[in-house]
Amino acid sequence: MGKLSFLFITLTIVMSISTTTSQSPFQNFLNCFSQSLNSSISDIIYTPNNISFSTILNMKIQNKRFKTTTPKPLAIITAKDDSHVQATIQCLKSNKIQIRIRSGGHDFEGFSYVSDVPFVIIDLLHLNSVDVNLQEETAWVESGATLGKLYYTIGKKNNSLAFPSGVCFSVGAGGHFSGGGYGNMMRKFGLSVDNIIDAKIVDVNGNILDRKSMGEDLFWAIRGGGGASYGVILSWKLKLVQVTSQVTVFNVKRNVNENVTDVVYKWQLIAPKLHKDLFIRLQFNVVHIGQKIVQVSFIGQFLGTIERLLPLVNESFPELGLKKSDCFSMPWVNSTLFWYDKPIGTPLEVLLDEPKDPQPTYIKGQSDYVKKPIPKEIIECIWELIIKGESLLMQWNPYGGRMEEILPSETPFPHRAGNLFLILYYNNWINESSQAIERHVNFSRSVYEFMTPYVSNSPREAFLNYRDGDIGANHPSNVTKMDIARTYGSKFFKGNFERLVSVKTKVDPENFFRFEQSIPTRS
Ligand SMILES: Cc1cc2nc3c(=O)[nH]c(=O)nc-3n(C[C@H](O)[C@H](O)[C@H](O)COP(=O)(O)OP(=O)(O)OC[C@H]3O[C@@H](n4cnc5c(N)ncnc54)[C@H](O)[C@@H]3O)c2cc1C
Ligand SMILES: *[C@@H]1O[C@H](CO)[C@@H](O)[C@H](O)[C@H]1NC(C)=O
Ligand SMILES: *[C@@H]1O[C@H](CO)[C@@H](O)[C@H](O)[C@H]1NC(C)=O
Ligand SMILES: *[C@@H]1O[C@H](CO)[C@@H](O)[C@H](O)[C@H]1NC(C)=O
Ligand SMILES: *[C@@H]1O[C@H](CO)[C@@H](O)[C@H](O)[C@H]1NC(C)=O
Ligand SMILES: *[C@@H]1O[C@H](CO)[C@@H](O)[C@H](O)[C@H]1NC(C)=O
Ligand SMILES: *[C@@H]1O[C@H](CO)[C@@H](O)[C@H](O)[C@H]1NC(C)=O
Ligand SMILES: *[C@@H]1O[C@H](CO)[C@@H](O)[C@H](O)[C@H]1NC(C)=O
Ligand SMILES: *[C@@H]1O[C@H](CO)[C@@H](O)[C@H](O)[C@H]1NC(C)=O
Ligand SMILES: *[C@@H]1O[C@H](CO)[C@@H](O)[C@H](O)[C@H]1NC(C)=O
Repeated sequence: MGKLSFLFITLTIVMSISTTTSQSPFQNFLNCFSQSLNSSISDIIYTPNNISFSTILNMKIQNKRFKTTTPKPLAIITAKDDSHVQATIQCLKSNKIQIRIRSGGHDFEGFSYVSDVPFVIIDLLHLNSVDVNLQEETAWVESGATLGKLYYTIGKKNNSLAFPSGVCFSVGAGGHFSGGGYGNMMRKFGLSVDNIIDAKIVDVNGNILDRKSMGEDLFWAIRGGGGASYGVILSWKLKLVQVTSQVTVFNVKRNVNENVTDVVYKWQLIAPKLHKDLFIRLQFNVVHIGQKIVQVSFIGQFLGTIERLLPLVNESFPELGLKKSDCFSMPWVNSTLFWYDKPIGTPLEVLLDEPKDPQPTYIKGQSDYVKKPIPKEIIECIWELIIKGESLLMQWNPYGGRMEEILPSETPFPHRAGNLFLILYYNNWINESSQAIERHVNFSRSVYEFMTPYVSNSPREAFLNYRDGDIGANHPSNVTKMDIARTYGSKFFKGNFERLVSVKTKVDPENFFRFEQSIPTRS
């Protein structure tokens, strides 16, 4: 053997040893990932040196607070097949790299695409099919589908079928359903999760499980306990509900100087007790009409005709003064556009639009549960307070009806009987300066603070889908501390927290699926 070829062989050996030993976990992940899939991975994976990386990352960042300043992922995997999800989990797990799971990207705190430790995003945007079975009155929905696509697909098939879930139709099925999911049919049919009958999940070992193979404990946990603590949910099987072929909607607006305190007070007493077919949401907005003033909207939906609705409201809530001319009758699928503030006559195809906001918006959201009526003078204080801000709106969503009939332990979502209404605090603004961001977040926190005496306590309950990092979160997110987890866990899940921990300990004992507010394992 000549000297040169000896040197060459030695070099090759040294190089190959050094490449296998000094490779970063991420390079090992890439090797593992490409070996697991037979096809080329170049059209599935986006790393920061790909020119489309930012476009793909930003496409589903729905809260601009997390758009520019936060750490970027090592890669985004845009799965096009279930096997891509399986390979992602197996290869991330073996290389101890954190995962973030994203469907619609509406998480208020960005937990589907932000992390303070190195991470990879699995984005389900391409896994978005909706399959309606008319005979069974069921639908299989992949996690990357939006609620709009679900509504559109059902509505195109049969105007007497529907599904009870959220109002914002760009929300993704993945996050929405695993966090409970509620909308304007909650008083009649309960939450989305009360109407989910099967699911497919990729577990920590990369296996695909359905309800039968995952077992009732895990199936219970992912219906309201948050999916991302347990695995990647690929799809959900929904039991559709029957509605009248026409429903009635209205949006009655009053300014607070129009003697509306008594009406709002009365709403608290009757809205949770109304007929199950009737849902009336209250919303307080700051508007500018010559002067800055708080406007109160009574936004309603009745699963029936105008002729049946009017006497019902006249009997139980005459103070509203609801008139026939306030009411619009339409198929349920059209009403989903009305609830999103689209003008009557908007084509249903708008439900299929990908979320795109012409103006970037920054969001801070929070939630509360109210169990006893808020006094009149406090209602007026709330209006005085929110007018000092610029853009915070408050929404009061009545409970009661079907929500009272379901035991708090039936799903991880515990907020059932005994609640008059759920408050959403939603501050969204467009000023990008860091000072403005701080000012708005501070303002939201001060309103939340003000409300303390009038809302639930011990614990102060919170709705998982209205994610709020202020109520406890793990930083860094790769260590899930039990005492911190108990803080947010008791607010989101009350007595169901311990069972969620038991399921977690069984299915993901090494705590691979972890993030700022995940369910911890019991050691
Ligand atoms: C404008 C607006 C209106 C809203 N209206 C309503 C409403 O009417 N009713 C209601 O209930 N909620 C509502 N929400 C809240 C919404 O339901 C939650 O933000 C929900 O989590 C969003 O789901 P997503 O898939 O879009 O979000 P993502 O940000 O993608 O995910 C949210 C969380 O779920 C996890 N996750 C996502 N997909 C999966 C998956 N496939 N498997 C496992 N884990 C997963 C993520 O990791 C993250 O922790 C609204 C939110 C906004 C911004
Ligand atoms: C890859 O190909 C082999 C052999 O054809 C097959 O057994 C395996 O299931 C394939 N894997 C994937 C992920 O498609
Ligand atoms: C970027 O991603 C696209 C789509 O996955 C792929 O076709 C392209 O080759 C990638 N480019 C680079 C520079 O990696
Ligand atoms: C968590 O992440 C930090 C920062 O990346 C790192 O220093 C630490 O070792 C990690 N801890 C665990 C338990 O993974
Ligand atoms: C639509 O659904 C309703 C409610 O189940 C049912 O009565 C009706 O027969 C269905 N119509 C069609 C065309 O499938
Ligand atoms: C305000 O409403 C109350 C009861 O709802 C009514 O008695 C009173 O006359 C109203 N006042 C005005 C100024 O409209
Ligand atoms: C409302 O009810 C009252 C009696 O309770 C009745 O006098 C009135 O005509 C009703 N109005 C409508 C619009 O039905
Ligand atoms: C409902 O939507 C359909 C399809 O776009 C449309 O033809 C119909 O006019 C709409 N009805 C109402 C009341 O908006
Ligand atoms: C944005 O906020 C900053 C800081 O509060 C303020 O100085 C600026 O005038 C605001 N810009 C607009 C367009 O409102
Ligand atoms: C926000 O609140 C913090 C803590 O109370 C305070 O230090 C800071 O000055 C406030 N920022 C703004 C812009 O109001």
